[in-house]
Amino acid sequence: MSTMQYSPGLEGVIAADTQVSYLDVEHEEIVIRGYDLIELAQHLEYTDVAYLVIHGSLPTKEESKKFSTTLRNEAPLPEATYRLLELLPKSTEVMDALRTGISFLGGYEDAQVLNDTSISSNLAKGLRILAKAPGIASNAYRILHNQVPVHPDPKLDFTENFLRMILGETPDAEAREIFGYILTCYVEHELANSTFALRVIASTLADIYGSVVGAVASLKGPLHGGANEAYVRMLLEINAQGGPARAESYVMEKLQAKARIMGFGHRVYMRKYDPRAYLLRNYIPRLASRRPEGKDLHTIYQTVEQVMLREKGLYPNADSPIGLLFYLLGIPIPLFTPIFLCARIPGLVAHAVEQQADNRLYRPRVTYQGPRGLHLPS
Ligand SMILES: CC(C)(COP(=O)(O)OP(=O)(O)OC[C@H]1O[C@@H](n2cnc3c(N)ncnc32)[C@H](O)[C@@H]1OP(=O)(O)O)[C@@H](O)C(=O)NCCC(=O)NCCS
Repeated sequence: MSTMQYSPGLEGVIAADTQVSYLDVEHEEIVIRGYDLIELAQHLEYTDVAYLVIHGSLPTKEESKKFSTTLRNEAPLPEATYRLLELLPKSTEVMDALRTGISFLGGYEDAQVLNDTSISSNLAKGLRILAKAPGIASNAYRILHNQVPVHPDPKLDFTENFLRMILGETPDAEAREIFGYILTCYVEHELANSTFALRVIASTLADIYGSVVGAVASLKGPLHGGANEAYVRMLLEINAQGGPARAESYVMEKLQAKARIMGFGHRVYMRKYDPRAYLLRNYIPRLASRRPEGKDLHTIYQTVEQVMLREKGLYPNADSPIGLLFYLLGIPIPLFTPIFLCARIPGLVAHAVEQQADNRLYRPRVTYQGPRGLHLPS
C-alpha cells in the first residue's frame, strides 16, 4: 500500500524541476530565468522577454533582431486557415477556434519534423506557433463575427501587429505600450494548470502542437484564464444594475450566496497581492477616459477590491486589471482569454522543451474508493 498522501488539486505538491520560472510568494517576486518579471515588464519589449523565457538568457541586439524577424516571417497563416475558420459553426467560441487552429497548423509539419522531440526541433516549431497564434485568434474573432480578416503586416513588430489585427487599425503609442506590458505579464507563470497540462501531454513524447492544444483547453476554464472575461462581464453587470453605488451590495450578495468573484484569489498567492495585478492596476486611470463608462468601471473595480479584501482577505489576481485594461483598449471580450494564451506561448514552449529534454512520463496513482470483489451474475 502506498504511503503517499493524496493532496486534492495537487495543492503543495512539487511536480517538476524547472529552470524556467518560480513564484516566490514570500518575497512577492515572479522569478523568470533569474529576473523579476515586473522589472522585465517595465523595461523590455515583450519579444525580448519571450526570447529570455524560451532560450534562458537575454538576447543580444543581434539575437533580438533575428528573433523578431523570424516572428514576422512566420506570422502569415496558411491560406487554408482562413477557410478552416470560415467553416466553423458561428457559435464556436474564439478560444475553441484557437485550439482548433493550432491543431490544424500541426498538419503543415512533415511527420518526421512534427514528431521530433529534440530541443532544436521543438524550438523551431514553438516559434512558428508563437508567430501564428495571434493571427488565428484575432481572425477567428473577425470571421466568426462576419468581419473581414486582417492579415499580419510584415512592417510591424509582434505587439503592434497583434493589436492591429484585433482592433483593425494600427494602435496608438499608449495602447501599444500598455498592451505590451500585459503580454509580458502573461508570458510565463510557473506550473499553472495549463502549463502542467502541457507537461503531462509532452511527457508521453507527444508533439508540441498537441501539447499546446491541451494547454489551450485548460486555459479556457473560468478558474484559470477564463477569469479575465468573467471579471469584466461582472463589472459591466454591476454598472448596468446601478453603477458604482451598486458595487458593494452586488459583491455582498454574491458572497452570501457562496458564489466566487472572478479575478480574485489564487492557489499560490491566495492571501497576497499578485505582483502583476499590483503593477497593472496603475495603468487603469491612464486608459479610463477611452470609454464613456471607463471612470465608473474603475470606481467599481476599486470598490470590489475593497469589499473582497474586507470580507474574504482576498486580493485581485492579474486577470482583474487585465480584464479592465483590455476592455478600455476596445478589445472585444471573447478575445481576452485567447490573447492570454497567445502571450503564454513562450512559457509553454520553454516547458515543453524542458520536459522532453529530460523526460519522465507523468503517471500518478489514486487512492481507490470504489468497491472490490464484485462478480458477474452466473
Ligand atoms: C483561483 C482559485 C481557483 C484558487 O482556488 P483554491 O486554491 O482551490 O482555493 P479554495 O477554493 O480552496 O478557496 C479557499 C477559500 O477562499 C475562498 N475563495 C477563493 N477564491 C475566491 C473567490 N474568487 N471568490 C470568493 N471566495 C473565494 C473560498 O471560498 C474558500 O473560502 P472558505 O475557506 O471560506 O471556504 C480561486 O481563488 C478562484 O476560484 N478564483 C476565481 C477565479 C479566478 O480568478 N481564476 C484566475 C486565477 S489566476
